[in-house]
Amino acid sequence: MSRKINIAIDGYSSCGKGTLAKALAKALHYTFIDTGAMYRAVTYSLLENFIDINNTEAVIKHLPSLQISFNYQPDKNFYHTVLNGVDIESEIRGMEVSNLVSPVSKIDAVRTFLVDQQRQIGANKAVVMDGRDIGTVVFPDAELKLFMTAKPEIRAQRRLDELRYKGDTLTTFEEVLNNLNERDRIDSGRENSPLKPATDAILIDNSFMTRDEQFHQALELALNKIG
Ligand code: DC
Repeated sequence: MSRKINIAIDGYSSCGKGTLAKALAKALHYTFIDTGAMYRAVTYSLLENFIDINNTEAVIKHLPSLQISFNYQPDKNFYHTVLNGVDIESEIRGMEVSNLVSPVSKIDAVRTFLVDQQRQIGANKAVVMDGRDIGTVVFPDAELKLFMTAKPEIRAQRRLDELRYKGDTLTTFEEVLNNLNERDRIDSGRENSPLKPATDAILIDNSFMTRDEQFHQALELALNKIG
């Protein structure tokens, strides 16, 4: 008899966590949740409403007005983030949000607000969730935990290729690399839920792995757990 499990995929910025999580969720018929997109959605809304992220009171007051959901059509490989009914997928991937999302993620009230929602989504299992604190904080009892990394230059090139593919011709390699390094520094150094591998996480460095190799390794690990 197979059982349903939760799969936590954590790791550094732009190392393919989302790609792997999506592929696993599709293969297992599980729900995929991109928690980074949730932090990005909050950041986007704070920017849109000119809320100073250092004004904790104003941030706390704003949070209950935010309804984050996802428009998933896995057959079309279509995964879009929706905020209060509006598709904000392209807005949250730009550099303006990328540059502010790590400082926003340090705010305790933001983390509590989003972690509550993430736990509710995973309460009935069958979820593949990617982020920074999934295996350590959101689902410390997840049956399978992966922690992913890759060399910063390789991650930056992959991210730049993605931006170019989406039509961004202006952002430079250095800007992307600096953003990744800066986010990793803030995400790893924060007091609340820092980015670090759970003690029982399996480490995967995918610098020189193809997507396919990585997917098959992870799928085998998942199937072993599912039984
Ligand atoms: O996965 P991403 O790069 O889209 O995430 C954007 C930022 O959100 C990341 O730099 C830190 C924050 N984040 C977080 O603090 N905790 C998570 N579980 C997911 C993301």
